[in-house]
Amino acid sequence: MGYITQPYQLLICLQLFLFYSQCSAILCSHDQSSALLQFKQLFSFQISRPKMMSWKEDADCCSWDGVTCDSATGHVIGLDLSCSWLHGNIPSNSSLSLLPRLRKLNLAYNDFNYSKISSGFTDQFPSLTLLNLSWSNFAGSIPPSLSNNITQLADLDLSYNSFTGQIPSSFSNLQQLRHLDLRGNNFVGEIPASLGNNITQLAYLDLSYNSFSGHIPSSFSNLQQLRHLDLWGNNFVGQIPASLGNNITQLAYLDLSSNSFSGQIPSSFSNLQQLRHLDLRGNSFFGKIPDMFTNLTQLSFLGLAYNELIGSIPSSIFDLLNLTLFSLSFNNFSGSVELYDFAKFKNLKVLALSNISLSVSTKLTVNSSFPNLSDLDLSACNISEFPDILRTQHQLEWLDLSKNQIRGSLPDLPPHMVRLSISNNSLTGEIPSSFCNLSSIRYIGLSNNSLSGQIPQCLGNSTLETLDLGMNNFQGTIPQTYAKGCNLTSLRLNGNQLEGPLPPSLINCVNLQFLDVGNNNLSGPIPEYLRNSTRLLFLNVRNNSLSGPIPEYLGNSTLEILDMRMNKFSGSLPQTFAKSCVLVSLNLNGNRLEGPLPPSLVNCRHLEVIDVGNNQINETFPHWLDVLPELQVLTLRSNRFRGPIGDTKTRVPFRKLRIIDLSYNRFTGVLPIWYLNGFKAMMHGDDNSIKVNYMRSANYSYYESISLTMKGNDIQMERILTTFATIDLSSNRFQGEISKVLGKLKSLKSLNMSHNNLTGGIPSSLRNLTALESLDLSSNKLAGRIPTQLASLNCLEVLNLSNNQLKGPIPGGPQFNTFGIDSYSGNSGLCGFPLSKSCSIDEASEPTTPTGFIEGDDASSWFDWKLAMLGYASGVVIGLSIGYMAFVTGRPQWFVRMIERKQSRKLTRVIRRGRAGRRSFLVHL
Ligand SMILES: *[C@@H]1O[C@H](CO)[C@@H](O)[C@H](O)[C@H]1NC(C)=O
Ligand SMILES: *[C@@H]1O[C@H](CO)[C@@H](O)[C@H](O)[C@H]1NC(C)=O
Ligand SMILES: *[C@@H]1O[C@H](CO)[C@@H](O)[C@H](O)[C@H]1NC(C)=O
Ligand SMILES: *[C@@H]1O[C@H](CO)[C@@H](O)[C@H](O)[C@H]1NC(C)=O
Ligand SMILES: *[C@@H]1O[C@H](CO)[C@@H](O)[C@H](O)[C@H]1NC(C)=O
Ligand SMILES: *[C@@H]1O[C@H](CO)[C@@H](O)[C@H](O)[C@H]1NC(C)=O
Ligand SMILES: *[C@@H]1O[C@H](CO)[C@@H](O)[C@H](O)[C@H]1NC(C)=O
Repeated sequence: MGYITQPYQLLICLQLFLFYSQCSAILCSHDQSSALLQFKQLFSFQISRPKMMSWKEDADCCSWDGVTCDSATGHVIGLDLSCSWLHGNIPSNSSLSLLPRLRKLNLAYNDFNYSKISSGFTDQFPSLTLLNLSWSNFAGSIPPSLSNNITQLADLDLSYNSFTGQIPSSFSNLQQLRHLDLRGNNFVGEIPASLGNNITQLAYLDLSYNSFSGHIPSSFSNLQQLRHLDLWGNNFVGQIPASLGNNITQLAYLDLSSNSFSGQIPSSFSNLQQLRHLDLRGNSFFGKIPDMFTNLTQLSFLGLAYNELIGSIPSSIFDLLNLTLFSLSFNNFSGSVELYDFAKFKNLKVLALSNISLSVSTKLTVNSSFPNLSDLDLSACNISEFPDILRTQHQLEWLDLSKNQIRGSLPDLPPHMVRLSISNNSLTGEIPSSFCNLSSIRYIGLSNNSLSGQIPQCLGNSTLETLDLGMNNFQGTIPQTYAKGCNLTSLRLNGNQLEGPLPPSLINCVNLQFLDVGNNNLSGPIPEYLRNSTRLLFLNVRNNSLSGPIPEYLGNSTLEILDMRMNKFSGSLPQTFAKSCVLVSLNLNGNRLEGPLPPSLVNCRHLEVIDVGNNQINETFPHWLDVLPELQVLTLRSNRFRGPIGDTKTRVPFRKLRIIDLSYNRFTGVLPIWYLNGFKAMMHGDDNSIKVNYMRSANYSYYESISLTMKGNDIQMERILTTFATIDLSSNRFQGEISKVLGKLKSLKSLNMSHNNLTGGIPSSLRNLTALESLDLSSNKLAGRIPTQLASLNCLEVLNLSNNQLKGPIPGGPQFNTFGIDSYSGNSGLCGFPLSKSCSIDEASEPTTPTGFIEGDDASSWFDWKLAMLGYASGVVIGLSIGYMAFVTGRPQWFVRMIERKQSRKLTRVIRRGRAGRRSFLVHL
């Protein structure tokens, strides 16, 4: 017996009326229709023909779209306004309260503009059995009173809104509830245990994609009708109660993925004979997979990836003949597995075995195939040859063989391939021309191999979205022809030997976001057409022979990373950076640019790196950059910058700066104390956080890198530790004294002020630079003694004080004793080890520093010594140093020496003997 919702039903009813005289002529009372019309007034409509357009005053409301009446009484019992394009707020006391017989209320897929559900909302509808408010932009918490009067409610759907807060424990009043869907909100807190005690009819429970926490209540084992349980994407912890498997034997769908569940997978799951979908991925389950699958014959989806499972794959898994998805990736299994064992699963579509520590044999031993396999992930499986499967699996669409040791040349691929990744292998030879026949291909990743020859031109005019051929030996040109409607978003050809210009028809790829052609031999200009690539985020052309000007439009672009270093660009920089600028990294090092630096660069508030070193910029110090709140690296090295640094009005100038390189310019005047004082980022000297983080762009696998001089060598630092700090002011014309303020910059690793005209003494406050590994003050006019406190700088690897006017004894100590005479040459007044000139009694008894340079309490230095020595035994120092030096290309000699020295130091105990002379003896054990 249906309700009257459509005109034709009315017609049927009228016919029935003729026979049975049962239908009343006017079903809808005036009260009801005016209540509905009032409700209609609350909303504006976003399209012209929503359901409510059929609601007219003169018509029977039972005939309106979305309205259902009881055919006997004429009461409105159902209101379905889903997808009605309603837009507006629902007030706490709406006219809907005049429809107290409402049983079903569906307001899904509208926009209620973050309305809250008022506490009396459901009081109005005591007969409600269905309430659907999903996808409708509701917000706020669920009032506990929601469940008071609606004890008949069987179906509650609040999914995909912005609800917050906890599930009220009063929900346990809803004893008729069968279907509860709260997914996609911001709910928090634990699941009330009473839910499991009282709502025993529950068949469908979806709490996924919220922020729920705590355990699965053991009361859940009462939910014996439960068929669907989805807790995906919350913060649940703890073990899965074994009773779940014992009692909820109807369960067909169980998704616990992306939580923090731990413990073993309960073997009681073997009772869940209806189970079709079991997803435990992304938790911390450990131990072996129980051999429990014999009776789970319905299982079609089995996700175990991203856990800590060990042992071998239980044999009963191979009974699961209905499996369509099997994902084991990222676990710690042992033993070996035969790829073709999985060929038993004739319905298998997706097989993911990457990073499972199993040796996967891919030899075709039996004449078996995977008739339905479309997605195969064998990355990091220790495979050394292409699996034979490629020859037989014509339906394969996704294939990941990356991070293996596959040698030899690329085979022809199944023609319907959509996504192919074979990066990080040892492939050689050319890309076969059969790649031109891949009619559905969207992703090709072949980076980090040894492929060579030309890149097939057809790959430009293709269906590709990503082409990543970086780090190979490709020659010839970049594919030149890109068809109209080109869908390429990412083109990565970096690290090859490509020549010629950037292709003009790339203009057709309007969705291009990543263009990485760095480290090739490209020539010609940056084409004007990139102006049209309004989605470009990442442009890396570094280390080519590109020339011409830097296009002005790059200042008004969507770029976040712009790396044009080491080319032949000339002329000025773009002069106008727009207010909307989102640049994070600007690297123009090593070109022929003349500047000036545009003051509008300060519009780029997110800038972290500015590197314009090694150009011909003839300008004064760009002090206006000091307001950039995120700037961490500023390199002006080797230009024609000139004049004094000048003062600043910024309260905390350069607040995040960690790396500043002004070397090889013509700066004059005194050292910029006011700036040094402002370098807050360099003052947090706590390097004991072993966490090794590099500056990188989270969105792209792009690590910031710079070239700088450290420890007397020009080095290219391929990755920059987020704790790395250095100041290089060398080879300028700075004058005056070295301020003791420098001692505050505790996280400094390298300080270079050589080749200036500095006078006065070396401040003993430098001993606070406990992270310092390189100190170069050479070729100045520094006078007085070397402060003995510097001997406590136990990280110091390189010291250069040569060519000054220093005098008196050279401090001794484990670190100082490793420096050779080069560190001190050209100071005629110095004496003691390692110089051949020994100190006279007079020299030894003079004050350690010239008057005015004694800072800190000398009595504390004994304590410093002990601390410094404690550091030797721990691996902290070496760990950190290797951390940031490991990516330095071409290890210079001092690096090797440093590592050797640090290693021998680990075996060194320091024994202090007597107070006199404060000498220590190194004993190698
Ligand atoms: C609903 O419950 C409230 C108490 O929470 C009560 O005052 C009210 O009378 C009830 N309404 C109906 C229609 O039962
Ligand atoms: C659960 O239901 C019982 C009646 O079956 C009731 O007495 C009890 O109060 C309910 N518990 C909660 C927490 O609502
Ligand atoms: C689970 O169900 C079994 C019978 O199937 C019953 O003996 C046991 O008490 C139930 N456990 C719980 C916690 O309800
Ligand atoms: C599988 O089911 C059969 C009968 O349905 C039963 O005899 C057997 O014990 C079950 N095996 C397991 C491991 O639960
Ligand atoms: C596989 O699933 C189908 C239903 O999808 C079912 O009819 C069939 O019995 C299952 N096969 C096995 C071997 O259990
Ligand atoms: C780009 O994508 C669209 C939508 O998927 C598709 O219709 C079009 O054919 C694609 N263009 C090319 C060149 O493959
Ligand atoms: C691109 O390829 C299609 C066939 O795949 C061809 O018809 C078309 O002419 C090509 N376009 C260009 C510009 O080469």
